[in-house]
Amino acid sequence: MGNQILKGKRGIIFGALNENSIAWQVAERCHAEGAQLVLTNAPVAARVGQTEELAKKLNAPLIYADVTKMEDLENLVSQSMEKMGGKLDFVLHSVGMSLNVRKKIPYTELNYEYMHQTLDISAMSFHRLMQVLWKHDAMAEWGSIVGLTYIAAQRVFPDYSEMAEAKTLLESIARSFGYHFGKHKKVRVNTISQSPTKTTAGSGVGGFDAFFNYADTMSPLGNADARSCADYCVSMFSDYTRMVTMQNLFHDGGFSFTGIAAELMENFKDPNA
Ligand SMILES: NC(=O)c1ccc[n+]([C@@H]2O[C@H](COP(=O)([O-])OP(=O)(O)OC[C@H]3O[C@@H](n4cnc5c(N)ncnc54)[C@H](O)[C@@H]3O)[C@@H](O)[C@H]2O)c1
Repeated sequence: MGNQILKGKRGIIFGALNENSIAWQVAERCHAEGAQLVLTNAPVAARVGQTEELAKKLNAPLIYADVTKMEDLENLVSQSMEKMGGKLDFVLHSVGMSLNVRKKIPYTELNYEYMHQTLDISAMSFHRLMQVLWKHDAMAEWGSIVGLTYIAAQRVFPDYSEMAEAKTLLESIARSFGYHFGKHKKVRVNTISQSPTKTTAGSGVGGFDAFFNYADTMSPLGNADARSCADYCVSMFSDYTRMVTMQNLFHDGGFSFTGIAAELMENFKDPNA
């Protein structure tokens, strides 16, 4: 049991595919903190994922929605308010997918049909979701909307490919929509930039193990895992972070501000010096 810091709050959590998913951990932590939840995922997740198992465990309604479809999101938002009996206090967008990455197409040869899909699913969906929340006046005052991102939005990690563009767009949408949501509805919008994490989406990135180990060595605290990301999300959904908005928040054990780790310096020592 947690400290019930989300007691009385209602939220929607996107993207819990299996127990490795960051969203899975977030849902479990929010539940333990007393929140009432609706879970959602792409319709295809009914075949390939275990979202239903989590919904049963947390006694949460599961409403499938494809984030590229306006009508699915409209249905999700109105049904969620109906089922939970009021406006929403928090929403987690934990959605990402790139066919170019999945099919290992080199960055210099991107397929643009796939790229459209990547940007639609991984970034524009954040705008679409917020537009639906806005139109339905679905967010309670001082509510909190969080999207998950990665530092490839700021720095080049070659294997992350077009997902870097998707994350850059996602972070920009958080700032731009965050302005309007803050000004007109007293709702905050942020992105959390998470360490490499061993999940279905994460492991799809080429050379993921090396990527993971490099970040772990570089970060003074080591990589942040999904469970600690869930703790951070809980704090972002709580009343303790009411004045934080339009930010990209690094949750990465210090990776983003480390130039080089002492262990890695060893590799560059001049053997003749
Ligand atoms: N794993 C990492 O290393 C890492 C690091 C930083 C940020 N992130 C981000 O965290 C988020 C969650 O990813 P994860 O690592 O937990 O992997 P995951 O594969 O468990 O989650 C991705 C989710 O996106 C859902 N999804 C894909 N297409 C969809 C659609 N059209 N409609 C609705 N849902 C759809 C999938 O079903 C899945 O549940 C993503 O935004 C990812 O980019 C991951």
